[in-house]
Amino acid sequence: MVVDFRPAFAAEEGERILRLDGICFPLDAPPVIDGAQWIVGWHGGAPIAYCAWKTVEHDGVPVGFHYRGGVLPDHRGHGLQRRMLRLREAAMRAQGLAAAVTYTDADGAASMCNLIAEGYRPYAPGPATTLSGLGRLGRVGFVHWRKEL
Ligand SMILES: CC(C)(COP(=O)(O)OP(=O)(O)OC[C@H]1O[C@@H](n2cnc3c(N)ncnc32)[C@H](O)[C@@H]1OP(=O)(O)O)[C@@H](O)C(=O)NCCC(=O)NCCS
Repeated sequence: MVVDFRPAFAAEEGERILRLDGICFPLDAPPVIDGAQWIVGWHGGAPIAYCAWKTVEHDGVPVGFHYRGGVLPDHRGHGLQRRMLRLREAAMRAQGLAAAVTYTDADGAASMCNLIAEGYRPYAPGPATTLSGLGRLGRVGFVHWRKEL
């Protein structure tokens, strides 16, 4: 499947990203567009996948956070999330970051399969390494993931 991934600049493409996100995460609050690096995947002139990453501090060390991402339902099953993980890892490495982190819903089976296949492992977040918010610590619902780059 030919998909061309290109950087998406928040100012011009924010609305497009929010439309894609609303399809992939119909129940969630929209993401914060500013402050993240966005990438959109194009197939036959149509946007069909998107993702973002940003730098966050974990225990005083900057790490790359896979912030948000999705593939439109008709285009799932072609390895696009794994491609987007690798694209963002390359950008993180280029920024000198030594680790990538993210979190998933505890029932995010497809994402978890993809993260494991790309070398991620779960970690138990503490106050300095939580991505889902301090209020979530100790609760069932999210799984945190990390990979050394
Ligand atoms: C998560 C998402 C990006 C994955 O899309 P994708 O890259 O096309 O991934 P696939 O659908 O091919 O699934 C990846 C793997 O998970 C498996 N999988 C998919 N759905 C599954 C399920 N319900 N239960 C178990 N395994 C599942 C697939 O079989 C595949 O495994 P394989 O590589 O061993 O064959 C896409 O489902 C999506 O956009 N979901 C909604 C938004 C979302 O959850 N984003 C990620 C937030 S962390």
